[in-house]
Amino acid sequence: MSDHTITSDQLRSRWWFDNPDHPGTTALCIERYMNYGLTLDELKSGKPIIGIAQSGSDLTPCNRHHIELVKRVKDGIRAAGGVPFEFPLHPIHENVRRPTAALDRNLAYLGLVEVLHGYPLDGVVLTTGCDKTTPACLMAAATANIPAIVLSGGPMLNGWRGSERVGSGTIIWELRKRLAAGDIGYEEFLSRATDSAPSIGHCNTMGTASTMNSMAEALGMSLPGSAMIPAPYKERAMVAYQTGERIVDMVWEDLRPLDILTREAFENAIVVCSALGGSSNAPIHVNAIARHAGIELDNDDWQRLGHAIPLLANVMPAGIYLSEEFHRAGGVPAVLNELLRAGRLHGDVMTANGRMLAANVGESETLDDDVIRRYDNPLVAHAGFINLKGNLFDSALMKTSVIADDFRRRFLSRPKDPEAFEGRVVVFDGSEDYHARIDDPALAIDEDTILVMRGAGPVGHPGGAEVVNMQPPEALIRAGIDSLPCLGDGRQSGTSGSPSILNAAPEAAVGGGLALLETGDRVRIDLARGEANLLIDAAELQARREALASRGGYIYPPHQTPWQEIQRGMVEQLDRGMTLEPATKYRDVARQ
Ligand code: FES
Ligand code: MG
Repeated sequence: MSDHTITSDQLRSRWWFDNPDHPGTTALCIERYMNYGLTLDELKSGKPIIGIAQSGSDLTPCNRHHIELVKRVKDGIRAAGGVPFEFPLHPIHENVRRPTAALDRNLAYLGLVEVLHGYPLDGVVLTTGCDKTTPACLMAAATANIPAIVLSGGPMLNGWRGSERVGSGTIIWELRKRLAAGDIGYEEFLSRATDSAPSIGHCNTMGTASTMNSMAEALGMSLPGSAMIPAPYKERAMVAYQTGERIVDMVWEDLRPLDILTREAFENAIVVCSALGGSSNAPIHVNAIARHAGIELDNDDWQRLGHAIPLLANVMPAGIYLSEEFHRAGGVPAVLNELLRAGRLHGDVMTANGRMLAANVGESETLDDDVIRRYDNPLVAHAGFINLKGNLFDSALMKTSVIADDFRRRFLSRPKDPEAFEGRVVVFDGSEDYHARIDDPALAIDEDTILVMRGAGPVGHPGGAEVVNMQPPEALIRAGIDSLPCLGDGRQSGTSGSPSILNAAPEAAVGGGLALLETGDRVRIDLARGEANLLIDAAELQARREALASRGGYIYPPHQTPWQEIQRGMVEQLDRGMTLEPATKYRDVARQ
């Protein structure tokens, strides 16, 4: 427990609710918050005022049950002597938002920072779930630095088709191939896809939502064991109550995000992400949270700390189970304990419950060691990201936990050079171009082709598109080749099992080397050396660079909305977290 405590006179809400030096302010705040029935005692007697950032709405179905859950949060806040104030977070729904939900992460971040700065809140409960809701909240918590705790909404129940598990997102990638191969029709495609969503909650695979909520827990920003409780379970509502109780004590203990979000905590998050087979969006979001916490974390850190970590969570897309089994097997605490015992984690880092990580997870055993593997019996020995560099980009990630045997056999089994492959590239400029041309026989795509997607980074496609995992042409799928190596400056869904090389930075739209590629070029990828290079002589590369400059650079589509233009003007590349550059210098903005 923290030995530092504050008194009610030190609550920041007192400036609004009990401030004799500014009687007008106090009068205006009190009369208006009393107009729906709050009492003078609740507002003026020095009870902590606790915000609840409500991320659920009809537009955000993955988080919608927070509308119910916050009732338990409020019960907990009141039981601990606080006063709850619920307010909306800008909606972020991954599957629906055009052009991409990633645009909303920074917008929701900005909105939340303003609320935390400008309103009479002493602490905040961050309700999270769908992919970007979690990083948006954690980034804002880091910038504002008022006591904050994450409450995940939890994943959906397992999806089933007969006795077969059907995982969110992952099933869509599989079904699209079957649709392309002519195995199933459109109606069956839709019917099978809906099997994956049997209840309230977010994606039940280890996609970006489960990964980021697990990251919140690994960072110490939520109650131990809370990240992966399925949304409909009674324990989910119980932990909502406990989260409400706990944030009040965090206010009295003055336990703030920057006391928890230390370099060691981020190093833990990287290790845990590898062991979970976490989303390729995690490095983007975790690097962003770190930057807002004033810590430089980069993709070299991800490879250095994460690559050699074994895959322990046998959960789709890297494994075979879903989140219900993962939760029953011990969830994030069991993984943390396994990693801690293997000496891979910093155990002496503070967490939201006021205890050190090691104290929280010391008793958390794996209850099913097929679902959560023992450290010395993993699914994959080295499951983290490889950070590739070369003449095409400074950084691009490959998620090694999802390199399937078939992919390894086809591309990574040359006796002389088992960790390298080379191929002729076919280049697409954005996903519309891909869909329009992928089946064109003139492209001559065969099993030695590398598919390249560019114009899909945070500037080229505002927010960065999840389009790098491209399906081969239908003719190739029918011939039994259902995956090809993919490379690009966009992202891919965390539910995808594709070992694409993605998040390439700098992107084509800001002068990155992918802009210089031409269909027919040869590219060599060497995983052992961490290199990806266009095989071309320097003079030819320079000539292409000059030609591109004389055409005015890589052309990307115009802005569609004011926010797209504003974000494009200040967004950083994916390796730097896709943060808004001017925002990263702000610290402690909610401190009076
Ligand atoms: Fe919302 Fe996956 S689409 S969590
Ligand atoms: Mg996604």
